[in-house]
Amino acid sequence: MQKNPGLLRLVRERPRDSEAIEEMTAAAFGPDRFHKTVYRLREDVPPIKDLCFVCLDQKGRLVASIRNWPVLINDKWPAVMLGPLSISPELRGLGYGKALMWHSMAQSRLQGHSRIVLVGDPEYYNQFGFRRDLALHLQLPGWVEERRFLALELVAGAMIGVHGMIGKAASKKTRRKKRT
Ligand SMILES: CC(C)(COP(=O)(O)OP(=O)(O)OC[C@H]1O[C@@H](n2cnc3c(N)ncnc32)[C@H](O)[C@@H]1OP(=O)(O)O)[C@@H](O)C(=O)NCCC(=O)NCCS
Repeated sequence: MQKNPGLLRLVRERPRDSEAIEEMTAAAFGPDRFHKTVYRLREDVPPIKDLCFVCLDQKGRLVASIRNWPVLINDKWPAVMLGPLSISPELRGLGYGKALMWHSMAQSRLQGHSRIVLVGDPEYYNQFGFRRDLALHLQLPGWVEERRFLALELVAGAMIGVHGMIGKAASKKTRRKKRT
């Protein structure tokens, strides 16, 4: 049978989407996902809410999601950490991943970000311009399969000279404390 999901709507993630996103992410990445290094950078840090999007089908059901987190490289260079990106299993390979990726990357640029990092299959993410060589001087706080650790410049040259450990972006609360 040919897959024909019809038109989907791409909207900003809403608070009520959390549960469905969690289910879809669990289906895509399995129960061990919380042990992945990238999750350490997400713990206690909310995603960038203006960079979290979902696709809804004609009945309003959530069928795809992308989230982005704020990180700080070497305590000085802000970056966006992309992911997770998950597509409902029965709708994979129809272009929704691509649509969410291009939308999310364009919005990141429009919102003033200049670099993105992620851990994912290069076979998939190379098509959006993510490259291994741009992440060669970066480290993550835990094990990662090196070939899957990628970066992208949203602004030409944004990775030049950028090096060091990727850490959590300070929450607003921490930043307030630091200032006082
Ligand atoms: C990977 C994923 C996000 C892609 O989303 P999608 O909507 O299925 O993909 P798209 O339809 O946008 O795919 C676009 C292209 O990428 C290719 N592609 C899809 N998944 C791929 C993968 N894992 N590796 C390499 N290429 C892939 C498709 O063949 C297609 O190629 P084409 O444009 O030449 O026809 C989705 O399949 C998913 O959630 N998978 C489960 C998690 C996963 O495998 N993650 C791996 C990446 S971290």
